[in-house]
Amino acid sequence: MTRTLRVIGIGPGGVRQVTLEAVDAMQGVDVFFVLDKGAASAPLRDVRRQMCDEHIGPGRYRFVEIADPPRDRDPVDYDAEVRRWHDARSEAIEEALLAELPDSGVGAILVWGDPSLYDSTLRITDAIVERGRVALDVEVVAGVTSASALTAAHRILANRIGEPIHITTGRRLASTPEGADTNQIVMLDADCTFLRTADPDDRIWWGAYLGTPDEIVLSGTVGEIGETIRSTRTAARERHGWIMDIYLLRTP
Ligand SMILES: C[S@@+](CC[C@H](N)C(=O)[O-])C[C@H]1O[C@@H](n2cnc3c(N)ncnc32)[C@H](O)[C@@H]1O
Repeated sequence: MTRTLRVIGIGPGGVRQVTLEAVDAMQGVDVFFVLDKGAASAPLRDVRRQMCDEHIGPGRYRFVEIADPPRDRDPVDYDAEVRRWHDARSEAIEEALLAELPDSGVGAILVWGDPSLYDSTLRITDAIVERGRVALDVEVVAGVTSASALTAAHRILANRIGEPIHITTGRRLASTPEGADTNQIVMLDADCTFLRTADPDDRIWWGAYLGTPDEIVLSGTVGEIGETIRSTRTAARERHGWIMDIYLLRTP
């Protein structure tokens, strides 16, 4: 018997940013699998519950929480450690699928934003299918990305006419190849790396908690507002206990 696992993009946190296709997919689910990443991830778990309350109905869905395997945050070999951690995650999810989802049942994982951008869920489901211990049909539903929430919040295009766009992380920002830095969308940057790597004349459009009632947006040149972004980020993180922020960096 084949189980189905829906990998559903739910957008960047706003209950109204869930697409109609995602709502349809959520409504036929027997079990939602949620990785429990400890206290730090509790607010993000709450957002997922709010989305299910809103789009399915309170008490009309089932969550199964899976303890996230521990991860070395400062490994000698970053890529090898991430691969090891993803293997451990895929095994934990596989166990939960076998234990909690009946044969022919429909499970789902609600993925922040869109499953194609800096998210390990599809790598994990590929590993489960490859191992073949559980017969699984994987379905994917696209979500609004935090990158599109950022450009919409600022009412801007991600590029000037015909220019390319480079999507990267704070960790890799310093190694953007020459010529690819015209328009950069930067995610996962807890260190405000642009303060070290960007030119003061570069323009930055920054946003945090995009699509939610707590949304904050700032824009200007790095020289003008770089430090304001850093202090705003620190204060917001303390106030809420978590933060997700993203920015577009553009050369003059
Ligand atoms: C692990 S990545 C996941 C990206 C996600 N799959 C997407 O499509 O947007 C998490 C990063 O996405 C960005 N992000 C996600 N939601 C956001 C939001 N509501 N506001 C600002 N940035 C957000 C942040 O850069 C955060 O560090």
